[in-house]
Amino acid sequence: MGSAPTPHIGAAAGDIAKTVLMPGDPLRAKFIADTYLSDVRCVNEVRNMLAFTGVYQGAPVTVMGGGMGMPSIGIYSFELFNFYDVGAIIRVGSAGGVASDVGLKDVVAGMGACTDSAFAAHYELPGTFAPIADFGLLAAAVDAGRERGVDVRVGNVLSSDHFYLDDPSSTERWRKMGVLAVEMEAAALYMNAARAGKRALCLLTVSDLPLSGESLDASERQTGFTQMMEIALSIAAT
Ligand code: ADE
Repeated sequence: MGSAPTPHIGAAAGDIAKTVLMPGDPLRAKFIADTYLSDVRCVNEVRNMLAFTGVYQGAPVTVMGGGMGMPSIGIYSFELFNFYDVGAIIRVGSAGGVASDVGLKDVVAGMGACTDSAFAAHYELPGTFAPIADFGLLAAAVDAGRERGVDVRVGNVLSSDHFYLDDPSSTERWRKMGVLAVEMEAAALYMNAARAGKRALCLLTVSDLPLSGESLDASERQTGFTQMMEIALSIAAT
């Protein structure tokens, strides 16, 4: 296996903490680091996929953008797990609510991640792999939510290759299977974690409802995001 720095991450081996929080947007990573961490250092600028390492409640934490889609988070999570000895990645992202009882601003934890992508194909498994979250991280997120009065919705999410759908009725078919929300990264993250023997969790704030067309405005997005971030950081610090 390779070693740090990698083709996509310029940080030195010791610059990345054992736990990484991963929003899609690198500027969101900067916002999280500036808002919540102390002793912050920028440890990656390659392709502007900014990463910051700092301290939260005494524990070292790295926050790094993962980009959009499974190829992107696939590269960054692979390199973090395999070349930097990262033990856990917690994705903190947004999602479209799919289940009829999932609403705007709800916090969803992806216990499993269905996918329409071919990411699993290169493992050449003799069947279908079921990408799942690490149970310890998942249980900790539910507990941290409860302590803050946030009812974290736990269940299947859909990691899709498509934000813009040619045929929106496919979302309805996932809804019938009990899928809570749609996003674009969790399945690849969970597969990389499984293959590396590491831990991962995907936490999501519902920013839009594709089946009704509703969406949050910018300030509402921020409120929902704050609850999710505090849950994620509290897990990262334990
Ligand atoms: N992320 C946020 N909303 C989404 C949607 N509707 N589809 C896929 N990813 C999303």
